[in-house]
Amino acid sequence: MWGGRFAEKTAASVEAFTASIHFDCRLYRHDIAGSRAHAAMLARQGLISDQERDQIIAGLNEIEGEIERGEFIFRPELEDIHMNIEKALAQRIGPAGEKLHTARSRNDQVALDLRLYLREECRRLLGLLGGLRGAFVALARRYRHTVMPGYTHLQRAQPVLVAHHMLAYYEMFGRDKQRLHDCLKRINVLPLGAAALAGTGLPIDREFVARELDFPEVSANSMDTVADRDFVVEFVGAAALIQVHLSRLAEELVLWTSEEFSFVTLPDAFCTGSSIMPQKKNPDIPELVRGKSGRVIGHLMALLTLLKGLPMTYNRDLQEDKEPVFDTVDTVSASLALMAELLAGMRFNEERLAAGLGRGCMTATDLADYLVKKQIPFRQAHAIVGRAVAYALEQGRDIAELTLAELQGFAPAIDEDVFAVLSIEGSVNSRNSLGGTGGARVEEALARAEREI
Ligand code: ARG
Repeated sequence: MWGGRFAEKTAASVEAFTASIHFDCRLYRHDIAGSRAHAAMLARQGLISDQERDQIIAGLNEIEGEIERGEFIFRPELEDIHMNIEKALAQRIGPAGEKLHTARSRNDQVALDLRLYLREECRRLLGLLGGLRGAFVALARRYRHTVMPGYTHLQRAQPVLVAHHMLAYYEMFGRDKQRLHDCLKRINVLPLGAAALAGTGLPIDREFVARELDFPEVSANSMDTVADRDFVVEFVGAAALIQVHLSRLAEELVLWTSEEFSFVTLPDAFCTGSSIMPQKKNPDIPELVRGKSGRVIGHLMALLTLLKGLPMTYNRDLQEDKEPVFDTVDTVSASLALMAELLAGMRFNEERLAAGLGRGCMTATDLADYLVKKQIPFRQAHAIVGRAVAYALEQGRDIAELTLAELQGFAPAIDEDVFAVLSIEGSVNSRNSLGGTGGARVEEALARAEREI
């Protein structure tokens, strides 16, 4: 491609070291879509004839078909996807093919391919996030009356509805959707026309290309355009947070499936056994999802590090952005899809949840709030209940199991009505503050979620 200026052939070791075709071949559809729009613009501007444009487009379509059918031979000596396709086109249609690269550089071309690719992947991931959120909503609906222990510090804290817990994840992954939507705005900008770095003297029409490729915006500065990979970092940042959220969920599933918790049962098809211990049913999917968060976080660090020392504008270092992005897309999509399927088949063990609720004095805060309603300052109420809890625990009982006389020994203001407050249902249903776990609030949140998905 640049033989004119060189006296020697590129060394084989250099070809092998610099080639990116083994991974950027993934961009073939985007590269071809970009070239079709570019050729249409060149013809419109009189830079090539209509006949040449038609030859180019027909040739690109053929190449696309060949790649799709696995018939196309990628040549590492042609370095990357851009040159592989361009060379194949020229071999096929002759001189018209050699005009395709008019007013274009691989620097703006690769930026275009990557933006087209990420635009598509963002939309696909948004769909997968929608599926996952739907699975949480279905679980919330199914278990809308089921109570479970809520934790802080992984210690039993207060009873909550299973639905409330599920909808917590619904919210979390909702913010992930917003982040992808937001980063999509900055991905969705046409870079083509920046050429190598300075724009071109040829009479191109960037707005036309933007319309052809459905970009709402054209990039403003040609140098920034070929140097910019912020959009990649933002995407991988958003993806890393998705994977971290999935990892937190995974960690809960690993805990919940243990004998010690036994809160949930996962479908057999989503678990694996042990080659030596016949009784084992292991939560490998959540474990791998949790483990894979390391890769995605690593990719984010790799990309930030890649950019930190680069002078303007394009530098070959930028080729190193593709593998982290591709692996991020693969990892996050597979994790999202599998977790959604796994959740669809997951069942809570309601008896087990109910059995454990009577332990841990989880309604202690309710007793303190009860005393507050009897005009006792909260700090004093907290201390009184603390003493009652210590007394109950000493005897291996829950505060709800203390007698009225015993409770009155701690605070004479306590009446018979305290037992409604100390019950698990009473506790959950009292928490009707905005965003709380009270049945009425959760029903509203669930209805809103069902409308949204
Ligand atoms: N394979 C290159 C990349 O991924 C394409 C752009 C190469 N540009 C250049 N001037 N060498 O970044």
